Order: sequence, then C-alpha cells, then structure tokens
Amino acid sequence: MCGIVGYIGKRNALPVLMDGLKRLEYRGYDSAGISLVQKKRIKTWRAVGRVSELEKKINIEEMGNVGIAHTRWATHGEPSEKNAHPHSDCGKNISLVHNGIIENYAELKKLLSKKGHRFSSETDTEVVVHLIEELAKKKTFMEALTEAVRLLEGTYGLAIITSKEPGKLYCARKGSPLILGVGTDEFIVASDASAIVSHTKKIVYLEDGEIAEISPDGFNIFNAKNHKTAKQIFEVNLTDEQVKKQGFPHFMLKEIFQQPDAVRNALRGRVEKFLSEDGGPIPGGLLCVEKRLKKIRRIVIVACGTSYYAGLAGKYLLEEFSGLPTEVESASEFRYRKNTIDEHTAVLAISQSGETADTLEAIREAKLKGALTLGIVNTVGSTIARETDAGIYCHAGPEIGVASTKAFSSQLSILVLLTLTLGRQRRLSFSESKALATELQKIPEKIEAILRDKNTIKKLAKKYAHFSDWLYLGRKYSFPIALEGALKIKEISYVHAEGYAAGEMKHGPIALIDEKFPSFFIAPTDSVYEKTMSGMQEVKARKGKILAVATAGNKKIKDLVDDVVYIPAAPEAFSSFLSATVTHLFAYYVGTAKGYDVDRPRNLAKSVTVE
Ligand code: F6R
Repeated sequence: MCGIVGYIGKRNALPVLMDGLKRLEYRGYDSAGISLVQKKRIKTWRAVGRVSELEKKINIEEMGNVGIAHTRWATHGEPSEKNAHPHSDCGKNISLVHNGIIENYAELKKLLSKKGHRFSSETDTEVVVHLIEELAKKKTFMEALTEAVRLLEGTYGLAIITSKEPGKLYCARKGSPLILGVGTDEFIVASDASAIVSHTKKIVYLEDGEIAEISPDGFNIFNAKNHKTAKQIFEVNLTDEQVKKQGFPHFMLKEIFQQPDAVRNALRGRVEKFLSEDGGPIPGGLLCVEKRLKKIRRIVIVACGTSYYAGLAGKYLLEEFSGLPTEVESASEFRYRKNTIDEHTAVLAISQSGETADTLEAIREAKLKGALTLGIVNTVGSTIARETDAGIYCHAGPEIGVASTKAFSSQLSILVLLTLTLGRQRRLSFSESKALATELQKIPEKIEAILRDKNTIKKLAKKYAHFSDWLYLGRKYSFPIALEGALKIKEISYVHAEGYAAGEMKHGPIALIDEKFPSFFIAPTDSVYEKTMSGMQEVKARKGKILAVATAGNKKIKDLVDDVVYIPAAPEAFSSFLSATVTHLFAYYVGTAKGYDVDRPRNLAKSVTVE
C-alpha cells in the first residue's frame, strides 16, 4: 500500500527512482511523484494516475544524486495532483513521501495553521512536512525530525530530503515497512525489496521508532530513544527475474501457473518428516517452540482477505486431524474485542506480505495476552515474520499481482504441514500422517492438469462474462473456496459475487436466484456431495444457471448443471487446492474478457499497511 523509494549515491537518481516506482506500482496506483535535489534546491513532479503519466511529465535528463518518489493509494483526499506525494513545506526546502495514516493530523494541522503554515492538499501527510519545518526553525534537521515523529500518532514510513542538507536522505518508520538497500557508494530506501534487488541484495530492515540518516558515504540509524543502533545487514535471495512477468501477459496468470511450484516449495524439506518414521525434524521455524506447541489447547487464526480464507480451510484441517479446537477471526475484529486467549492458546497469523496492519496488530495484542504467536508468512524478513515467536515461511516467491493466488496454495500447503505436526504431537498415527503426506505430494501434478486444461475455463469465462451477479457455494472443505472464488471475481472483474456455505443458501440467498443470477458450485465428490447436490436441485428448480466444479469421472452431474469444470480426484481435505485454481483462472479470464487490468484492479493495492 503506497510505494516509497528514495535514492542517494553517485548515480543520477531519476532512472533509479522511476524504475523503483514501476516495480512498486502494484502497491498503489492512484497518483505518483518524484522530488530531486538539484543544485541545493528541490524540484518536484507529480501526476494523477499511473507512473507512466508521471514519466511523460519529466525530462529524463533531469539530474540529481538524491531523490525520493512515491506511488499512492489514496486514504485522505481523492487521487489528484495536489494530494499526490511528495509534499513540501511552505519554504519549499523540505520534500517528503509517506506511507501510513497520521491519526492526529487534524489537530496538528490546526496548530500549524495558527502558526501561519499554509496547506495545499487534503492529505494527512502534509502536516508532517510542515511540522518538521516548524520545529527546524530552532533545531537541526535531525533534531526537528526526531521531535516531529514523536508528536505523530498513527503509522508512518517516511522518506525525506531537504535543500538545507542536499547530501542527505532521511527516513523514519513506525508501523509501515521501510527497508534500506546497501550498495557500493549508494543507498536505496524502499517500502519493499522489489525496488531494490536489481541494485543490491544487501538489506537493512528498519524497526518501529527508528530514524535513518543516510549520506553517500554511509548511514546512521537511531532508535526511538535517539541512541545510535548497530544494524545487521541481511542478504535477500530475491532475483530480478522473479519480479518480472517472464512471458505471461499478466503477473496474475504467471502466479496462477506458479501454483504447482508454490506447493512444491512449501513442502520441500518439510514433508519428508511425515513419510518415514525416522523422517526429519519438524519444520525448522517451529523447532524453537516444539515443547510449547505440545502444551497448547487451542488455536486462533488471524488474517485478512484471501489469507483469512486459507485460515478457514486450516480450521477444517486442524480440527479434523489434530483435534485442536480452532477458531478463525478477521484480524481487524480480533484486536478490538475482548477475547479469551491465554498462554495455552497459539495465535496464528497468516499473511502473504507479512505487513498487513490488522494482522500485525492482532499478533501484538495476542503477545500482550501471553499467547504463543505463530506465523505463516511469504515475505522473508517482513514485520509479522520478525514479530511472531515462531513460524513457517511459504517460500512462494514474490507475489506481484494484486489479487493473491499462488500465496493461497502455498498457505494451504503450510497449513497441512502444521496440522500434521500438531496432529503427530497428539492423536494422529504415523500411518495416517504418511497417507496424507503422500497424497499432498501429488497435488502439484493435479494442479498442473487443471492448468493444461485452461482453455476450457477460458471459454466458460467468456460465456458467463456478461453476468453481473454470482453466488459461490460449497460445503465443508469447499466452503472456504466458495468465499475465495467470490472474492477473486469481485476484485478482478468487478462482478458482484457472494460466497456462502451451500447449506445456508436456502436460509436467504435463494431469494436472489433466477435465470439472470447464476451459481458457481464447488462440488467435488466428497462426504457432503449429496447434500451439495440438493442445493443444486433447489437452484435448478428456480431456473438458476449452474457452473460447477466436480471430480473427474462424475458424468451424472451434467444432467443437472449447465456447465462443469472437472478437477482430478483427491482426498476430500485436499480438493480445495484444486478447486481454488479453477476459481482463480475463472476470475482471471472473466476479468480479461471484460478488458480489465487484472494486475491492478481499481481501488485496491497490494499489502494493506493501514487499518
Ligand atoms: C485478495 C487479496 C487480499 C489479501 C489481504 C491480506 O486477493 O489479495 O484480500 O489476501 O489483503 O494480505 P496478506 O496476506 O498480505 O496479509
């Protein structure tokens, strides 16, 4: 959510910033802007819309070795040029980009207005730059910045330049991710590694409350108590190739096609434990809490969006195979209500980005209550990964498409591994866990079979693209997939879709059904198949169209439904992997059939770092 990039070094900053913005555009794309320090003055360009609009406004020969840039996802104030970042102070000596929300901005704005500051935008961000200007009247720039961030309530990732110190770049973080790429004679600040990896793989993670003062010769980082802190430099293993489309028309399609590998990578070196009696240790990330895991009596999963639906699938798995009572809660609800978690509860955060504000805060709340905190996270080194007691990385590789796809398959895989781990500590026999692990290993090939048949789904997507409403229905393991399928088509195709437990349909949603309101049934051959069929009969009786996902070989279903997509046979607990891929492809093809930019759906942004 909002992309930040800043450069200081010996090269011209503009191409680095522009390239960084293009790589970060998936985080927000309402407007964009760049500021460069030029001969002790700051020059700023801003544009509404995509980074390409900004590019048209700047002469590529503009020079400067220090600069900041931003791609915005609007929170306060509509997407417009005046609300685009960077924002400047009255004297045009300071330029600043911001990710996050300043909660006390109205109060600060009033105070600063009384002191004569003039505001030109509706953003919360602009108060920060005026606040620094005000404080810098009597202090050094560093002192003013330190004091300013102390006065801010809310969250921020900030990158700042000032014409008074033209050879410096400053940044500060609280609640919004910010990392520093350490190159040879140059430094790049960014809200995520994809803007940095083509320049350097050496990364320093800024922690909450820290301020960095960077010059071409080095950097100093100060903690919240204003003490200089030594920082570890990490090596990220993210390649430039991984953040490119590699021949696919969209990142979303590339990432759907990476689902088989996402599952393989999640299982690699981990699933073996369950295949032979003297198999390896439990997943490395959980070793440090192995004994504590044995003592937990309950799991609470906290997550948002697609990760929440993976969590819901996890509930079915964990309760069936480990016997541990499991609840799943939207992270945004968890933190604001009285809950009953204690030291016998494991609170499990699921997050692709590892930066989702609601999920992060839920974990912090759980820690305060003494719970064991666990993470299933894709982005290595992200805040949730660092703040949980233990966890398992997904290793799905970077997910750039705004709609989550391969991360979902990966999260499901890790949830199965976690279930087997906890199950073996409790009631699951070796032969049961071996049988499940063996079937799990077959999932990537089965997803590949669905991908080979993509044209069937593409044709159906074209046939159904004109419908403006859908019900997605499924029971048991297929219920979370109904929710996920409905979310995906909503996001990508701007089609109204509701996901329901199929048994709930007759309690209300059935009122919507007619020939113009189709249903997408997830109906693999499983223990609830007959019940799902009853739901289909009810839809048919009301002239509703049905598109169904069914298990290969189920010819009979054709008598009832209008169209069917077949998935390979799999154990009931794992059919969700397969039907999820079908719903992802269907949403993708409906979105592209309607001519939408599926990688950047309107109003959305990757990595939601505000509440
Ligand atoms: C849906 C989607 C979002 C995310 C949600 C959580 O396609 O991408 O619903 O799943 O914002 O994000 P993470 O997993 O990064 O915490």
